[in-house]
Amino acid sequence: MDLQIQQKVFLISGGAKGIGEAISRCIAEEGGYPVIIDPSVIEGKKLMVEFNTNGIKSLHIAKRLSNPSDAKDAIEQTVKAFGRIDGVVNNAGSNDGVGLENGTPEAFRASVEKNLGHYYDLVHYALPYLKETKGSIVNIGSKTAITGQGNTSGYIAAKGGQLSLTREWAVELLKYGIRVNAVIPAEVMTPLYKNWLETFENPNLKLKEIERKIPFENRMTTAKEIADTVVFLLSNRSSHTTGQHIFVDGGYTHLDRAL
Ligand SMILES: NC(=O)c1ccc[n+]([C@@H]2O[C@H](COP(=O)([O-])OP(=O)(O)OC[C@H]3O[C@@H](n4cnc5c(N)ncnc54)[C@H](O)[C@@H]3O)[C@@H](O)[C@H]2O)c1
Repeated sequence: MDLQIQQKVFLISGGAKGIGEAISRCIAEEGGYPVIIDPSVIEGKKLMVEFNTNGIKSLHIAKRLSNPSDAKDAIEQTVKAFGRIDGVVNNAGSNDGVGLENGTPEAFRASVEKNLGHYYDLVHYALPYLKETKGSIVNIGSKTAITGQGNTSGYIAAKGGQLSLTREWAVELLKYGIRVNAVIPAEVMTPLYKNWLETFENPNLKLKEIERKIPFENRMTTAKEIADTVVFLLSNRSSHTTGQHIFVDGGYTHLDRAL
């Protein structure tokens, strides 16, 4: 299937590592132009050089999205470089462990803001350009918004908010022909995930326990498998799919794990 995204421009927050990196790579493989917004200077630059060497235009904006002005500036840089925006992937986030008992009200608010605020900001400032291209938006959520995880109220509140905003924006943007979907990972080996595993006494044992419970093939989802679904949703090959929450998780969230 030709996804027909050649020379189209897509923003990926957190696009230099983990799931975001896989999405940037997948867009480039399909001939699209990735704009990576990520403070990881070395990784982002390396990807940009690699893409450009292969004839794929790309841009690395070495920035951590925190304040609305960061998103505004990223959109301005993108439009200056490419003159158009065809899609936004809201992906950057971190499970920062601000729980009920181990957190504070101030830390909770900061965590929600850190994980949810820039999802809104990026789409808000990209919207005039998405209207012109009838672009597509993909929000990366987390299965923890559905199942809970414990000790991470802020992150989970933000993840739940992202799923609600997916539906809300899908409705609000119907009139512009802009589609909005969410892709929901569960267990994907990335730098973020590795850090989380390291919090256990025996990370290898913990990993084996988790893999055993993943119904499809008893293995982790690869970042590439998440990226393939995201890029399909960015493309017009998914032209009648909007407002959907799509779980790419080997059945981990919904199938009977006792099978
Ligand atoms: N890995 C998993 O198993 C898993 C499971 C469920 C959900 N997710 C979600 O997937 C997304 C990506 O996770 P990952 O595991 O690839 O993470 P990761 O930490 O491995 O990579 C995230 C990248 O985003 C960048 N980043 C973080 N905050 C940023 C910000 N404010 N602005 C710009 N860049 C920022 C980091 O520098 C990093 O390069 C997150 O939204 C996460 O909640 C991941």
